[in-house]
Amino acid sequence: MVQLDVISENQNTEVGSYFVANYPPFSAWSADHTQAALDALSKPPTANPLGLYIHIPFCRKRCRFCYFRVYTDKNSGDIDRYLSALSKEIELYSRNEYLHNRNFEFVYFGGGTPSYLSGDQLRGLVDKISQHWRWDKAREVTFECEPGTLKKSKLEAIKEIGVTRLSLGIEHFDDDVLEFNGRAHRSREIAEAYAWAREVGFDQINVDLIAGMAGDTEEKWHDTVAKTLALSPDNLTIYQMEVPQNSTLAREARDSGGEVPIADWPTKRRWVAHAFDLFCESGYEVSSAYTVAKSDKNAGFIYRDSLWRGADMIGTGVASFSFANGAHFQNADSWADYLDAIANERLPIARAFPASDQQRMIRELVLQHKLGHVDAGYFRNKFGVEITTLYADVYDAMKQSNYVHIDGDDIRLTQDGLLRVDALLPFFFESNFRSHHEH
Ligand SMILES: C[S@@+](CC[C@H](N)C(=O)[O-])C[C@H]1O[C@@H](n2cnc3c(N)ncnc32)[C@H](O)[C@@H]1O
Repeated sequence: MVQLDVISENQNTEVGSYFVANYPPFSAWSADHTQAALDALSKPPTANPLGLYIHIPFCRKRCRFCYFRVYTDKNSGDIDRYLSALSKEIELYSRNEYLHNRNFEFVYFGGGTPSYLSGDQLRGLVDKISQHWRWDKAREVTFECEPGTLKKSKLEAIKEIGVTRLSLGIEHFDDDVLEFNGRAHRSREIAEAYAWAREVGFDQINVDLIAGMAGDTEEKWHDTVAKTLALSPDNLTIYQMEVPQNSTLAREARDSGGEVPIADWPTKRRWVAHAFDLFCESGYEVSSAYTVAKSDKNAGFIYRDSLWRGADMIGTGVASFSFANGAHFQNADSWADYLDAIANERLPIARAFPASDQQRMIRELVLQHKLGHVDAGYFRNKFGVEITTLYADVYDAMKQSNYVHIDGDDIRLTQDGLLRVDALLPFFFESNFRSHHEH
């Protein structure tokens, strides 16, 4: 019998991470397998949808909770060199057999802070990329922004390069909370940026919040949620604050031997539930463990829905992750290694993992659970597996805890299950990877 109680025992927020972004876990990928990635790219193309991720690793400030590879000390010469390397990297990919003559269905500018770039830098980057690869057929182009980097003219440039989905990192509305967590923006800049973004007119605006920032309280969170609802975004994404090993918060906790100043897990789940309930009363629908979306318009998220169904994605830029033709791979995560590889006309792939059929099945299963519902028929058709039989013991334990309802092929997480889905997912992993979990 699977024991799920580990999840409720561990109530305090500690250094470590529950969030499951991929499978097999990153810690299993290795430099020994990079050839497997290159082999996968040398095969003929398939009909699998293809996306492009562009990593812009620059920020005005590093947030105390941030675990991404970001730089706050690069000058405009460095940035120009990086942008040239990015377009060169895309050119190198376009020469591979597997990617030949294919269009990107979705594009994602992620960070760091893509909106750190000036309008001219952005136009220059996109001009260079489009000499090698067309993306005008993309159904969605997402662009992450830090509110304090935006001006109306920059938003016009962002729109001009084809962005359909603007994602604003609001995180919280309380200025003390924002400052204490090392955010570069304040609430006034949120209001300005949001108003300009609406004036410029994007198909979709998403805003990110984090439940459980250092210094947050019940009252401040309720106020943040109310102010966010007043903006009427098309999508709201809420992450439960984690304190990953390589964040400043984690280092501070280690140095002081003190506790992590973040609300416990039950509090964070209650805060997310409060926000989800309030938004749902106002015409939104829960579309994943982290997202509510307006139900009266097309507020889908093609990047997420494609990736979680096994689409290929080429991740460009320092430390970016890719998945193509069954292989996982990640770029060099240091500035010098990344730029050196590109200067030598080599793809900057530093570690990889060739996923087996079973691992690809588990990957999709794990990621699709984050949507809150899984169709057993999809896994029967695509992978020839009966997931309710294969995982009968996990699902029985989840049913007993009231985390899931199963009706024929329809597997549906309850709100309680969805709010702790990342802690449940390792139970679907192969046993040798359960301990690789970062926590
Ligand atoms: C790659 S970050 C880019 C944010 C962008 N630079 C900005 O300033 O708005 C994307 C999102 O990850 C979330 N995030 C980052 N660190 C996190 C953490 N430690 N725990 C939970 N969510 C986190 C934040 O909501 C953030 O908006």
